[in-house]
Amino acid sequence: MIEIKNLQKFFQIKAKFSNHKTVHAVRNVNLTIPSGGALCLIGESGCGKTTIGRMLCGMENPSSGSIIIDGQDISKLKRGARAKLLQKVQLIHQDPYQALNPTHTIEQMMKATLKKMAKQKKKDADWIRQRMDELLKLVGLDPETILFKYPHMLSGGQRQRVIIARALTVEPEMLIADEVVSMIDVSLRLGILKLLRYLRERHNISILFITHDIASARYLGNDTELYVVYKGMVIERGRTELVIRRPQHPYTQALLSAMPILKGIEKPGKDRFVITSQFRQSEEEPHGCLFADRCPFKQSICDEKRPELIHSDDAYHACFFPKVRQVAAESI
Ligand SMILES: Nc1ncnc2c1ncn2[C@@H]1O[C@H](COP(=O)(O)OP(=O)(O)O)[C@@H](O)[C@H]1O
Ligand SMILES: [Mg+2]
Repeated sequence: MIEIKNLQKFFQIKAKFSNHKTVHAVRNVNLTIPSGGALCLIGESGCGKTTIGRMLCGMENPSSGSIIIDGQDISKLKRGARAKLLQKVQLIHQDPYQALNPTHTIEQMMKATLKKMAKQKKKDADWIRQRMDELLKLVGLDPETILFKYPHMLSGGQRQRVIIARALTVEPEMLIADEVVSMIDVSLRLGILKLLRYLRERHNISILFITHDIASARYLGNDTELYVVYKGMVIERGRTELVIRRPQHPYTQALLSAMPILKGIEKPGKDRFVITSQFRQSEEEPHGCLFADRCPFKQSICDEKRPELIHSDDAYHACFFPKVRQVAAESI
């Protein structure tokens, strides 16, 4: 099980000709992912999703807050123990074209990581061969046809599968899938999403799924929790289906309204609206709601006080004037 408590991240940006700036990339984020569970972070570009993922797998240190993996706070561990614990969390990157070494065949690459595991487990070369076949088959690849290939000979979808197989060599408890389908062909996306779902259902691997596309979150299973992030803050959360059907925060509603209308919908709900103003990092930290400058339903209190995440109708939202505006979820 993985827990994040009050996680915050500030970045100092050094500017040449003006004062240094601080970006508050992640604000007091709390989340829990049980083993085999799935949690989806959604929000537009720059809202802090990747930073949360990078902190969770130890690539970035939090400014404050804690990350607890299987009951152990990673910041309180010595280097060796920390690295061992962090092996349980593997990050899969958005870009399958950059994540593989172009000069290595798939066999060389898989063997290199499996050798380390074999050493840890005191296993021999037969075990490596067997495990390599097993993992490639698990991710839906045929070892015989793929092992001798170089990355450039594979499709984006195949590459992403190889990267998942490589991540599985260390027997992780959790995969962080950061925009994993955004750079591969649309026709291959569903296959990757199904694979992630299979890994959680059959192999009890939890998934932190990071996306800006709500539609893909739905493929991970009915019990997926959806966290909507805006400027580093979770502004709404709940079961994915519930949030999609009954979004309460205007930002979530705007995200859903921006979804393309596909099959199964007669006409969009009359409450659909679109936010036209651009997202930008504010120069000065606002006192009030982070979304107030773009919100069409803003009242004066929204500029004065920041709403906290409160429980309502089986979900949580951070808005003073939440209103359930029906969005036709079937259309996604
Ligand atoms: N290493 C860094 N140095 C400075 N600013 C950063 C760094 N990484 C991320 N940021 C800033 O933090 C914010 C969140 O970024 P990121 O987590 O990449 O968002 P997302 O993945 O949601 O697009 C952005 O404003 C980004 O510019
Ligand atoms: Mg990102």
